[in-house]
Amino acid sequence: MSSTALAHALPAGPAIDQRLFRDVMGHLPTGVVAVTGIEADTGRPAGMIVGTFQSLSLTPALVTFSADRASTSWPRIRTSGRFSVSVLAEHQTDVCQALSRKGDDKFAGTDWVPSPENGAPHFRGAAAWLDCETVREVDGGDHVIVIGRVLYMEAGSSEPLVFHRGRLGGYRAPAAV
Ligand SMILES: Cc1cc2nc3c(=O)[nH]c(=O)nc-3n(C[C@H](O)[C@H](O)[C@H](O)COP(=O)(O)O)c2cc1C
Repeated sequence: MSSTALAHALPAGPAIDQRLFRDVMGHLPTGVVAVTGIEADTGRPAGMIVGTFQSLSLTPALVTFSADRASTSWPRIRTSGRFSVSVLAEHQTDVCQALSRKGDDKFAGTDWVPSPENGAPHFRGAAAWLDCETVREVDGGDHVIVIGRVLYMEAGSSEPLVFHRGRLGGYRAPAAV
């Protein structure tokens, strides 16, 4: 959907080449995060991958990510008012592939345990986990900016999975000088 309030509120800017925009932004490495939830009506898990997850505020402890308005998973996750986060580890490319696919049975064959706060999937072996309550959804053009309050968090010991220039990889520490 492109006819959002923000799109209407902004004066027309320069014509932007979308492919170039993607390419330029692809130079910014991001983490790869599984956002999951339990759909209120069905009690079934739903999930998606986001590269837009980040901390927003320390006091109160808030996090944010952007959900595409075309996503079929975010509308299911948001029904419970809670969401869970697994910061994927370098070895979890299979989880990234499974959750970024469209479709119903994204969790088949993945290794997860119910989160302490809402029972949504936490992927075992991830780099970190958080449970959040959704406190606000803000218009962000063709995405919705989701703001969550942190209810629970835990760090693991795995190295993170990184997305950079369209490819998945691992974090490489700079050579010592
Ligand atoms: C590395 C990576 C980063 C992504 N980042 C986002 C994101 O920030 N927001 C988003 O809505 N979708 C993002 N996606 C796409 C979704 O994970 C996924 O394709 C989509 O949610 C699946 O469709 P569904 O929501 O209809 O199930 C990303 C996918 C990948 C592989």
